[in-house]
Amino acid sequence: MVLGKSIYHSDGRILLAKGATLNRRHLQHLRELDIRFLYVDDGRYGEVVLDQAVADETRAQAVTEVRRAMDSVATGSGLPSNRIAQTIVGIIDELLSKQGSLISLTDIRAMRDYTFAHSAGVAVVSLTTGLQMGLERPQLVALGMGALLHDLGKSLVSPAILNKPDRLSALEFDALKRHAELGYRLLLGRTDLEPAAAVVAREHHERLNGTGYPQGLAGDDIHLFARIAAVADVFDAMSTDRVYRWRHLPHETSETLIGGSGILFAPMVVKAFCEAVAVYPVGTVVRLTNGLTGVVIRQNKAFPGRPVVRVRVTEDGRERLADLDLASRLTLFIAEVIVDQPV
Ligand SMILES: [Fe+2]
Repeated sequence: MVLGKSIYHSDGRILLAKGATLNRRHLQHLRELDIRFLYVDDGRYGEVVLDQAVADETRAQAVTEVRRAMDSVATGSGLPSNRIAQTIVGIIDELLSKQGSLISLTDIRAMRDYTFAHSAGVAVVSLTTGLQMGLERPQLVALGMGALLHDLGKSLVSPAILNKPDRLSALEFDALKRHAELGYRLLLGRTDLEPAAAVVAREHHERLNGTGYPQGLAGDDIHLFARIAAVADVFDAMSTDRVYRWRHLPHETSETLIGGSGILFAPMVVKAFCEAVAVYPVGTVVRLTNGLTGVVIRQNKAFPGRPVVRVRVTEDGRERLADLDLASRLTLFIAEVIVDQPV
């Protein structure tokens, strides 16, 4: 088996690069790191070029800055605010260069030190959504800073609670919930950061209908950037393998967000998210309603749920590849996503 998409360490470095031939030892190692999902290039559909939201180095840099920021809380040294700003600008520029195409959010990463990689993921998703909503650059920088540092308060929560694989007790959950207010206090009043960043840390667990925490804010009382970060936080968390469950795929996560739109999440944010993010990223194996199985090879920006699917068809006893553009074949639908179970 050849690896179709790179897998990352929790610090953002590449653990196993795309193109590597997978052996038993690799698979054992990946299993030990709780990685349960990977892309395999089996050559069945010719060359399929997988895309990614931002370059490996950019994401690794974002992860590093979150780690430094959280370490700085523990050691009492200064927040690396300049580098955080640079990182956010880098992500914005890369996403800007991809405007007009759907963004694929399908990175595969080890889950030790979950918070660092998750924070970088939330920044990328928040900025993707913010760009789609037409936010200006200064707003995007503030949104990105808040998203990257949204869980900074977790550096003051006991690791035993953060890393507990089992369900938290009510008391432990209360202690975990404090990270929102703690993050706010850490970021409040800093002149080297955008003021909105502190608000995102405090309000990213608020929910549109007032059922969130810590303040139980509702509707527009929740800062717009926090409403964006809330959607990004849930999307990234659901898209990640955890010890206790497999990752959800983008089409499943989108359904959850759409289901919560107007109840838990702001409709304008969910709408922008769905317009910007690929529901079926390139490389997804799908079964179509005509019974054929194929792989997504290209996106249609105007129809996020209707990509181009490459299938194998048999004609006159010979097999060949055919690209079906679902944007122009409106009677054809994706019936299901196929994920091979591990051996
Ligand atoms: Fe959080």
